[in-house]
Amino acid sequence: KKAFKLAVLPGDGIGPEIMAEAMKVLDAIEQKFGVRFERNFANVGGVAIDTDGKALPDATIALCHASDAILFGSVGGPKWDLLPAEERPERGALLPLRKIFGLFCNFRPAIVFPSLTSASSLKEEIIAGGFDILVVRELTGDVYFAQPKGIEGEGSQRRGFDTMAYSAYEIERIARVAFEAAGKRGKKLVSIDKANVLSSSVLWREVVEQVAADYPDVALTHMYVDNAAMQLVKNPKQFDVVLCPNMFGDILSDEAAMLTGSLGMLPSASLAEGTFGMYEPAGGSAPDIAGKNVANPVAQILSAAMLLRYSCGLPEAAECIEKAVENCLAKGLRTQDIFQNASGEQLVSTSAMGDAVVAEINRA
Ligand code: NAD
Ligand code: IPM
Ligand code: MN
Repeated sequence: KKAFKLAVLPGDGIGPEIMAEAMKVLDAIEQKFGVRFERNFANVGGVAIDTDGKALPDATIALCHASDAILFGSVGGPKWDLLPAEERPERGALLPLRKIFGLFCNFRPAIVFPSLTSASSLKEEIIAGGFDILVVRELTGDVYFAQPKGIEGEGSQRRGFDTMAYSAYEIERIARVAFEAAGKRGKKLVSIDKANVLSSSVLWREVVEQVAADYPDVALTHMYVDNAAMQLVKNPKQFDVVLCPNMFGDILSDEAAMLTGSLGMLPSASLAEGTFGMYEPAGGSAPDIAGKNVANPVAQILSAAMLLRYSCGLPEAAECIEKAVENCLAKGLRTQDIFQNASGEQLVSTSAMGDAVVAEINRA
């Protein structure tokens, strides 16, 4: 297949800025690989609340249904934080998109680029030689979605509650994806839970153990989430694939991202069964830096690369983008979040970083 339909949802905050850079990169890939990405833009999140009255307009859902994949920016911001929780961009748009399209599997690859070890918040000797961690986060279950949830009662008796729950079916299907991924990489899988306290985690551990029987070549270990948070900063190189329930994966993936230098570096792929997927940076709309042309576009650009790999079957094009990003970092180009003011480093804007990635693609 040579032509693909993409739903492009830039969203709020830095979303539109970093999405513009991903679009330049897709233009360059079209030229180089003789493929075509028909891109249709739609509103999502706060911008959709302002223009269409709700965070996930029907037209946006319809566009996504008619597309091969979704490229998502980020949603949310202080402007919409006072709306009722279910109407806000995060719960009104992002979570429903994940649910509607059955995107139960979220890949978050935290990779330290060799030239970027000094941007990590860890000591150089801990990072030396780099690391390559794949967080596999379950994305449509857990305390995010299980019912009941809400706020009830009056005055000091008001009670806010959520339900943490997993079915064996939900655990098994994400565990299989994680074992498959581990089998193709370092063959080590660490499953994260809190089985010393939580019943959903007791079942999680039990089902992951059962699935392990089908993957004898993968070494499985279990780790409590609090210990995992500690081990990640103590010795990240011990990890290969990390399988997480939804909420623990949310937290640990931000931590893993920072170990690579910046949250602005971490892409993600949210996948269903089959090739449909939504591709989104792990970070958010970054209201503190929005509108200044300083955000790091790398997470968005690498998310587009993941889209080409998983939804379009274009691994060479994906690698071309990843190599181009690596070359720009090796040349010392740095947006402010990864700028250390070391010799050989050059501070660049969002758009200059995007232009540099395009130049590398054209040169390759
Ligand atoms: P955030 O990820 O937006 O920002 C956290 C910190 O990381 C900020 O200092 C920000 O400047 C920095 N950062 C994030 N992305 C960056 C980039 N590309 N380049 C440089 N720096 C970057 O998290 P937050 O501040 O807790 O949340 C802000 C809003 O984003 C909230 O409304 C939140 O709900 C939303 N959010 C959305 C998504 C999403 O749409 N996928 C993800 C996370 C948070
Ligand atoms: C992420 C975000 C979302 C999540 C929020 C914005 C709903 O933090 O994609 O990591 O918690 O999944
Ligand atoms: Mn998150």
